[in-house]
Amino acid sequence: MKVLVIGGAGYIGSVVVRELQRRGHEPVVYDNLRTGHREAVPPEVPLVLGDLADRDQLATAFQRYAPEAVMHFAAFIEAGESMRFPGRFFANNVASVITLLNTMLDHDVTRFVFSSSAAVYGDPDSLPVTETAFLRSTNPYGETKAMVETVLRWLGELSGLRYVSLRYFNAAGAADGVGEDHSPETHLIPIVLQSALGLREAVTIYGDDYPTRDGTCIRDYVHVSDLAQAHALALDYLTAQERSLVCNLGSEQGASVREVVEAARRITGIDFPVLMGPRREGDPASIIASSQRAMEALGWRREHSSLEEIIASAWEWHRTHPRGYASS
Ligand code: UFG
Repeated sequence: MKVLVIGGAGYIGSVVVRELQRRGHEPVVYDNLRTGHREAVPPEVPLVLGDLADRDQLATAFQRYAPEAVMHFAAFIEAGESMRFPGRFFANNVASVITLLNTMLDHDVTRFVFSSSAAVYGDPDSLPVTETAFLRSTNPYGETKAMVETVLRWLGELSGLRYVSLRYFNAAGAADGVGEDHSPETHLIPIVLQSALGLREAVTIYGDDYPTRDGTCIRDYVHVSDLAQAHALALDYLTAQERSLVCNLGSEQGASVREVVEAARRITGIDFPVLMGPRREGDPASIIASSQRAMEALGWRREHSSLEEIIASAWEWHRTHPRGYASS
């Protein structure tokens, strides 16, 4: 199937592009390369340099490549950043996605896979969190994902759109020569490994007074390869079913910030320094997925999401790409 991958030069998008190729699909990447990397796109995959906010550019890509499905990875992703610049997040993560959806429907493309987030839940009352939990994000980032899901529901009911909205928990790890290269980097695992490499003086733990087993935040880390599998299965679902689906993608295991640090020290064999800092605004204390729905509806199976494999694969990437793509 021809798939337009918006944001396919980014971390998760570029791993999904490789998985689509392996399964015989024909991905076309649409990316403005503001945060994505040209090197992350396989040379044989067409790369359209375009902005999501530009409806004419998008329409041209639809006419030229005639995609049968669209995947969206082009959102701003840092929850902490969204507390400082909420307007930017609503513009890029909501307004531009509405432009994309309208352009799809104008071209009779009705299959859509959306990268949603665990951030829609905020600080859930009970864990593991299921898809029926109340949505109450603790930051604008999560709110943008919930808003798009509302738009999807209405376009699904009224305009014939079929979608799978995948609520990722904490995507991490490296695969197929693709790893995390964000600028600036804000995610825990890359920061920890950059500290192990001596590229940072220390890791600062954002708060140790949370109501968790060791006082630091608990997250559910899921391997980017397992996320890529779920995207391919989502395409199959949209081909076989007339229905839409919203589902969590997590490992169903929680790891605290301290536990991630300790695992990284063990795996790298390096005793890098750690400092204690204040809480980061907008951070929920704990979040762990129930992924039962994804397993039942999509047939999703996790193969790489142990914390050991996530950190070991990320370590391999950071060791061999200490300056990210600029290293190659
Ligand atoms: N953290 C630190 N020090 C750091 C960086 C992070 O202590 O230097 C802590 C954070 O406070 C948080 C945990 O490590 O408790 C994980 O933080 P990340 O920034 O790696 O990830 P988030 O949980 O904030 O957010 C990520 C993605 C979001 C997604 C969310 C889903 O960035 O896009 O996971 O749970 F929505």
